[in-house]
Order: sequence, then structure tokens, then C-alpha cells
Amino acid sequence: MNVDIEKAKEHFGKVLEKQMKRVEDMKSSTSWTDYSALDAIKIGICGGDGIGPFISEHAQAILEAMLKEDIDSGRIQIKVIDGLTIENRVRVMKPIPDDVLMELKDCHVILKGPTTTPEKGGPWPNIESANVAMRKELDLFANVRPVKIPELGVDWMFYRENTEGAYAMGSEGVNVTADLAIDFMVATTPGSERIIRLAFDYAAKNGINKVTVVTKANVIKTTDGKFLDIAAEVAKDYPQVKWDGWYIDIMTAKLLDPYRRKDFRVMVLPNLYGDIITDEAAQIQGGVGTAGGANIGMRYSMFEAIHGSAPRMVAEGRAQYADPSSMIKAASMLMNHIGYVEESRRLDMALDICSQFEKRLVMTGRPDGADGASYAAYILETVNSPDLEERWIGYVNKMSA
Ligand code: IPM
Ligand code: MG
Repeated sequence: MNVDIEKAKEHFGKVLEKQMKRVEDMKSSTSWTDYSALDAIKIGICGGDGIGPFISEHAQAILEAMLKEDIDSGRIQIKVIDGLTIENRVRVMKPIPDDVLMELKDCHVILKGPTTTPEKGGPWPNIESANVAMRKELDLFANVRPVKIPELGVDWMFYRENTEGAYAMGSEGVNVTADLAIDFMVATTPGSERIIRLAFDYAAKNGINKVTVVTKANVIKTTDGKFLDIAAEVAKDYPQVKWDGWYIDIMTAKLLDPYRRKDFRVMVLPNLYGDIITDEAAQIQGGVGTAGGANIGMRYSMFEAIHGSAPRMVAEGRAQYADPSSMIKAASMLMNHIGYVEESRRLDMALDICSQFEKRLVMTGRPDGADGASYAAYILETVNSPDLEERWIGYVNKMSA
């Protein structure tokens, strides 16, 4: 009997049990949080690491300014949650310290700054990413990442599966022997169905006649194959929405194709592909610093920048030049999610004006550009300008002329 193989089999047995339990949990969770029915909505603000606290502070200020009336009345409660720092996480050797997790679970929605993810061979012990842990812990299954570039006719909405795929067991692979390492890839029926359904729902509700399902099902036949099969099933419930399947490699190329890329609208894809392609998409939009995203679950939701904590910027003394747009976009998505649809729309228009159209201030991440505080002030001033809507429409018309 080979002891290494027996140990690996035992480990695999535990992995299976854990995933079977998750399937059961998913099947039994059925109701979404209804924010309109709550007396008070608690928003947790977690600064994170590196540039996180710098850019979160600006997003928080904008949120507080735009929701002032309801904060004053007590309908909105803002709760700052400290402690989700890499130092604290390493101290307790957990991706999220217990007390922080309790505070997070006491909120309805969370605005989260980037957190440092330890990597193999890096300066920190190799604990699981706080992002990945939070997504699993709060079952935030849908990572929704918009990318919009009016100038190029690009209007993309990515629905990235957020709790399965290569990430489900990303910290629980096995080194079977010194020569053999195995990771696990997971796709479940309820897990695939819920994200695909959300993407189709979004398309249907917004009158978008196109969902693209992205996999590598020609090679990763079992899990990606399942994802694609389920998409075909779900699509039958949305006869008004056309859909097609693309492989991730050619999809990555086609996002750079000026003729083809405008055709893509809503994309739904397994975790790792979604991770990679949304960075590419954000770069086309103007850099990862411009992109925010939502992590939606039935009970909780979390809103964040799509990028990391940029420790290099902090080490080089440039943190104050970090672009807060990503976190401000996340704040806008948060407002939209909890029912402040008009506020969110105004903030989106201001973001478009400041970063795509007018560009009175430009962020470069360095002292030759604007700093985050001035840029956030520029955005808020634009939000508050009485002719916001006319200006936005004017720019959009000019663009399409
Ligand atoms: C993201 C990030 C995370 C991910 C990292 C920080 C673990 O890249 O939100 O896209 O891989 O999901
Ligand atoms: Mg990423």
C-alpha cells in the first residue's frame, strides 16, 4: 500500500464531503434580503491593506454625502470595521479574524478596500486570501463587474462565478509526493445555475439580447462541460435572450478586436476565467484602478475595487495618488443594490464625466497626476452640479456623432 496515495485519498474524501455539504446548503437557501423591508440598513466599511484605507476613505465620504439624509434619519447606518489587515490576519493565522467576521455578519452590505493576498514564497505566511474567504463565508456567489467605454462603444457586464471553479479548493490542493501536486476544480449544479440565471435575468430585465457563456469546455470537459450544459438549460427559460458559447482563449483575444468586441454585452463565466478577463477588460477601460465590482449573495453583498492593495505604491510613498475611482464605482453599485438607484445613476454619470469625457483632473498614480482626495472632490462636485445630466447627455451625444 502506498502511504502517500492513501493519505491523498483520505484528503480527497474530506474535500468531497465538504462540497456535498455546500450543495445541500445551496439547495436550502431560498430567500433574498429585501432591503426595502428593513427599518435600517447597515453598511460596513472595511479599509483593507495597502492603498485600501486611502481609497476607501474617499468612497466613504462620497457615500456619506449622497446618503446624508437617510444617515441622519437612521435608515442607513455606517459602521467602520477595522481589523481586516494583513498584520491581524497573520497574527491569528486566519484569512478573516473571528471578531472581524462577526462584525461583517452584523451588516447587510459591505464596502471593502483591497486586502493583501499572501503568495507562495512571499513575505507573509501563505494563508487564504481574505477576498476568497469572505466570498465563501458569506456565500457571495456572483461577482458582477461592469466595464463601460462609451468612446469605443463598449458596454460589458461580467457575471463571474465567485465560490466554485478553481477557487473552491484553491488552498486545499495536495502535494501527494514531492513530485506530484494536485488541485481541485469544482462545478455544482445549483452553483452554476444560480450565477447563469442571474446573468440571464440581468439581460432580460435590461432589454439586452445577448448573453455569452465563456468556458474551456473543449478541454476541461467535466466542470466546464457542466457549466455549459446548465447554461443551455437555463437559456430555455429566456427565449427572448439570444446566447452563445465562447472559449476563454479566443474570448480574451476578441476583447481586443475593435470590430468584434462591441457585440459582447453580458458574459457569464467560471471563477478563474472571470478573474483574468475582468482585469483585461478593466485595463482596456483605463486600468484596474477604474473598475469596481459587486459580490452578490442572497443574504449579504460586498462591493469592492477589482484590484489588489498595491503595496508598492505605499512603499514608494505614493498611496495618496492611488485612483479612488474603483472604490467609488463600488460605492455606486452598493447604492444601486440597496435601492438608491437614482443616486447610483448620478454617481455613474459623474464618474463617466470625470474619467472618460471631461478629464479636468487625471490620475497617474504618481505626483505628476492628481491625488485621490482632489479627484474624489472633483467627482463629488460633478455629482452635485445642477446640470449633471445635461452635461452627461451632451458628452454622450458628441461621442456618438
Ligand atoms: C479579484 C482578485 C482576487 C481574486 C485575489 C485578490 C484573490 O484578483 O478580486 O479579482 O483572484 O479573485
Ligand atoms: Mg482578479
